[in-house]
Order: sequence, then structure tokens, then C-alpha cells
Amino acid sequence: LASTEVDLSSIQPGQAIKTTFRSQPLFVRQLTPKEIEEADKVDASTLRDPQTLEERTVDGKKQWLVTMGVCTHLGCVPLGAGEGENKGEYGGYFCPCHGSSYDTAARIRKGPAPKNLEVPKFSFTSDTAILVG
Ligand code: FES
Repeated sequence: LASTEVDLSSIQPGQAIKTTFRSQPLFVRQLTPKEIEEADKVDASTLRDPQTLEERTVDGKKQWLVTMGVCTHLGCVPLGAGEGENKGEYGGYFCPCHGSSYDTAARIRKGPAPKNLEVPKFSFTSDTAILVG
């Protein structure tokens, strides 16, 4: 199956883009220091799908959050990447289909979705590019 290269150079802190990976939506987000702090201050063991931001990002580059843009409830595309404002009440992504809210590490915090947004396998090919898949 094909890999996808994503150029990170135009993604500013606080911005997320929507692209595609294997015909599905892919979100790539550069977290601000405040968003990282918000993700880190949560006790992961209290979450529905317990994972830390570290576990969902690459060592030393935890500002780069790469996830599938597919809600883990019934597969809608959450808002919050590319359409501006609606990041939901936990500041990450919001699925309008049945109201799932994801936090700044794209972890499920409220609503019916059972799992965090999936992090695909990816690696950095330079400081400003990743290869997904
Ligand atoms: Fe996202 Fe149902 S598909 S909340």
C-alpha cells in the first residue's frame, strides 16, 4: 500500500491541515505550547482510551500530532482541521454526527466514540516532512 509524504513547512503552531492517506482523511496538526500543556496535564489513566501525548507522537517532536480524520464512532470526519473554529469543548476535534469531542492529543473525551483518533505509522524524513505509512 502507498505511503504519503506530507510537507509540514506551511503548518503554523495552532493550525491543522486535512489531507488524505490511503483514500481516508488524515489530520496533521502543529500543537502550540499551551495545547501540549493541556494534553500533558490530563491523567491519562482516567481516559476512556488511556494514552499520553508522548505515546501518540514521535520523541522530541510532540508538537506534531498526526491522526486519521475518521471518528472512531461511526466514521464521520471530525471538524477542527482546515475549517477553522470548531475544535469542540476539549480543543482538539469535534465530530458533529453524534457529538464526540477529542482533546488536543486527539483523545476521545466526550460523546459516543470509543477510541482516540487513530495515529498511523509515520516517520520524519526531514525537519519539515513526514512519511505516513
Ligand atoms: Fe462521530 Fe458518531 S460518527 S460521533
